[in-house]
Amino acid sequence: MTRLSARGLTLAYEDRTVVDALDLDVPDGEVTVIVGPNACGKSTTLRALGRLLKPKGGAVLLDGQALAELPTRRIAQQIGLLPQTPAAPEAITVGDLVARGRQPHQRWWRQWSEADERAVAEAMERTDVAALADRPVDELSGGQRQRVWIAMALAQETELLLLDEPTTYLDVAHQVEVLDLVRQLNHDKGRTVVVVLHDLNQAARYAGHLVAMKAGRVVAEGPPSEIVTAELVREVFGLDCVVVPDPVTGGPLVVPGRPWRPSPPPKTPPTDSVPSPVRTT
Ligand SMILES: Nc1ncnc2c1ncn2[C@@H]1O[C@H](COP(=O)(O)OP(=O)(O)OP(=O)(O)O)[C@@H](O)[C@H]1O
Ligand SMILES: [Mg+2]
Repeated sequence: MTRLSARGLTLAYEDRTVVDALDLDVPDGEVTVIVGPNACGKSTTLRALGRLLKPKGGAVLLDGQALAELPTRRIAQQIGLLPQTPAAPEAITVGDLVARGRQPHQRWWRQWSEADERAVAEAMERTDVAALADRPVDELSGGQRQRVWIAMALAQETELLLLDEPTTYLDVAHQVEVLDLVRQLNHDKGRTVVVVLHDLNQAARYAGHLVAMKAGRVVAEGPPSEIVTAELVREVFGLDCVVVPDPVTGGPLVVPGRPWRPSPPPKTPPTDSVPSPVRTT
């Protein structure tokens, strides 16, 4: 049994069921990556794992206890969640937003400690936002803002970290930096991380455990080298591709089929080959 799991988890918005009787064990001390087409229920599932969404049926269990039965602070000390589209309070500065990640650790008799200070500084350093500390969050570029949110989630210093598309808006170098950071946290501090990603090749590179979802269900899960195949990509995304060994890691590399190109024009005989009328003068 793992620390975080879902049993018969059913999630719905009003009457519309999005996730139906999902069973999922998040392996402890691993990086789990969830992939799947738009609207298949990835964010909905992640939000339920972080108790932002109440199940319609079944339960999310933390150490064997249903989240619904645990005090909010206890959950916030154990599980950090970066939603897909977080909203910052108006005019808040970067430093203040990252500091909010420390709230679950504060007590009324001790508002701010050295541990808080250190966690915030380290999170900002690791995400490359220290130089932005005094800037208002709403004046940042999309990529800068995304890194600030990641910093806030890191500052929370939870053993379980749930990140919904943390690489959105980031240029390719910052994408790799964030995913490497996730790996480092996992390796150095034994953090259990669940990440939703769209890039299958990044998913295959960074996942210890890969979960492929479609229409609210888990279609396949396991180590990327065992489950990423052209058949799976076709089944889950309806995409033709070939899967070849990644030249750097040796893991699976998904190469989509040929890009669209115009079909060649129908063959007509070139005009100069048309025989000219015979002159009879
Ligand atoms: N707050 C909401 N109210 C009503 N329906 C919602 C809400 N949030 C999501 N949905 C619906 O639930 C379904 C699953 O959405 P979800 O956000 O979990 O998808 P996703 O897999 O994360 O997709 P994406 O890759 O686009 O982020 C979609 O049909 C969506 O329209
Ligand atoms: Mg989503």
